[in-house]
Amino acid sequence: MYRTHHCYELRPAHSGQTVTLAGWVNSVRDHHGVIFVDLRDREGITQIVFRPGENADAAEASHKLRDEDVIMVTGRVDPRLPGTENAKVDTGEIELIAAELTILNKADVLPFQIDKEISNEDLRLKYRYLDLRRPRMTRNIRLRHKITTAARNFLDETGFIEVETPILSNPTPEGARDFLVPSRLSPGRFYALPQAPQQYKQMLQVAGLEKYFQIARCFRDEDLRADRQPEFTQIDIEASFIGEEDIYPLIEGLLARMFKAGPDLEIPRPFPRMTWQQAMDEYGSDKPDTRFGMKIIDLAGVFANTEFKIFRSVLDGGGVVRAINAKGFAGITTGQMNRLNELAIQAGLPVKTLAFIKCEGGEYKSPLWKFFTDPEKADIIKTLAIEEGDIVFFVAGAWEMVSTVLGRTRLDVAGMMEINKGSTAYNFLWVTDFPLLAFSPEDNAWVAVHHPFTRPKAEDLPHLEAGDYAKVRAVAYDVVLNGYELGGGSIRIHEKDLQAKMFSVLGISPEEQQEKFSHLLDAFRFGAPPHGGLALGLDRIAMLVSGEDSIREVIAFPKNNKGADLMTDSPTRIDFKLLREVYVQSTWKEKEKAKEE
Ligand code: AMO
Repeated sequence: MYRTHHCYELRPAHSGQTVTLAGWVNSVRDHHGVIFVDLRDREGITQIVFRPGENADAAEASHKLRDEDVIMVTGRVDPRLPGTENAKVDTGEIELIAAELTILNKADVLPFQIDKEISNEDLRLKYRYLDLRRPRMTRNIRLRHKITTAARNFLDETGFIEVETPILSNPTPEGARDFLVPSRLSPGRFYALPQAPQQYKQMLQVAGLEKYFQIARCFRDEDLRADRQPEFTQIDIEASFIGEEDIYPLIEGLLARMFKAGPDLEIPRPFPRMTWQQAMDEYGSDKPDTRFGMKIIDLAGVFANTEFKIFRSVLDGGGVVRAINAKGFAGITTGQMNRLNELAIQAGLPVKTLAFIKCEGGEYKSPLWKFFTDPEKADIIKTLAIEEGDIVFFVAGAWEMVSTVLGRTRLDVAGMMEINKGSTAYNFLWVTDFPLLAFSPEDNAWVAVHHPFTRPKAEDLPHLEAGDYAKVRAVAYDVVLNGYELGGGSIRIHEKDLQAKMFSVLGISPEEQQEKFSHLLDAFRFGAPPHGGLALGLDRIAMLVSGEDSIREVIAFPKNNKGADLMTDSPTRIDFKLLREVYVQSTWKEKEKAKEE
């Protein structure tokens, strides 16, 4: 037996008992020949004391201990001397007086210290097994386990059945690039890793399972960010005979259970709801952070009769003039202003700088101020509630660009002003009534905002028939928390003809529909129930529950920003022979060779 107790367990009540602990040497200190070891296991830390007078052999051996050696120690629990207690650890009132020491394994000099924060993330990822020994990471992984278990239990209790769906599958149109796997048995053919189990979960409804869930691995080859990984986990849910009003309380109940299990929070329900249109108009985002105001304000009324040429032509051309008031931010530095401009340009601002009005020392400072009439000035001040110390940012142009740029600027200003610093608010929100389709200028085609299986609103079907696609709303919803999209879903199309219509609107020819989606269209011929669902991003929930700002902190073995696993050095080069076996030839190699020659 390696241990009788864990390192968090011993208290003064255990005094006098002989116990055995096992774990890692967290630190070693030598006090005039007496060796003090902090022994760490998954659960906590206990101080071990090696006194020469107690057991000479153990004390002698303890001099050789180094950080992260794996040891087993048997000894007597003693209360610590008054004044030497350590209130920072649970076991701080006792120590273990070692009688026997077994070194189970020695550790080499470590690439970094376990008990210090390190900023070099590549190093952390290369030695992830060491990084995970750090208490913060152990805590995160355990929190993730807790919320996952809570989700599983909740869904089980509410009648959902967990079903695994294939990883080697066909392309799923979720908007990202697929990861492909060549088939050895079917030369020239490929599997795609699922971007989501979307079609399988719908097939399970046709199969009569009625309530399905899966803690599902998903794979998307897309540009990575702090809240995006190429492989991630969804809590994927689908049910039959339900409408969107059934989905909201279900998901609210599920999230409430997860937040109770994790950070022990009672989250108020029902969550507020906002239409996509309102979210875009007021916050310039389909995932608004509602922990602060700074809403976008429309200035069409203010400039209805303006003669200021730029605004006049924008308004006459069907565009908008809108602004946000960054209250108390008139003291913005030049550096901050440059950064805001840079980010606004990245978000689509077609000019070099954001237009602004500052109110400082009772004066209105702005390159634009002189172009406005006195009534316009008064109306601007009133509409935007401008007060001393405020700065207002304006954008004029097409609605979508203005919303996106001001939405971005609103978040960037909030970041600079540290508006959310120390906030303990958890602002859950449903964003509803998404558009079904969006026009993609790059593809010169209409694309699905969610995915092609999303149901159009019944009252908007005439617009779909009439080809007035921009007006068609979807029965689709996202659940948002503090500016993060936690999950999204929809009620689905379950009728063959409507699904075929949707595919053709998306430019998928009848032949292509047969080739790619015949299973779905076929299934819809044989009694498909009305159904719908949603998928939550488990990594993002775990990140927010843990108070982290990157999902890499809550994934045991994440990829870095280039999609690489630095620990195993994947992706890796594949031997030419192996490639030949799966009928694949790497053009990259040839290109590289050509470059060398
Ligand atoms: P969607 O594409 O919105 O919907 O994904 C659902 C949720 O998954 C999370 N997510 C990600 N998390 C980490 N890294 C990524 N690359 C990543 N991509 C998505 C987000 C997101 O809200 N099949 C539909 C769901 C449905 O219609 O039922 C789907 O996958 O939190």
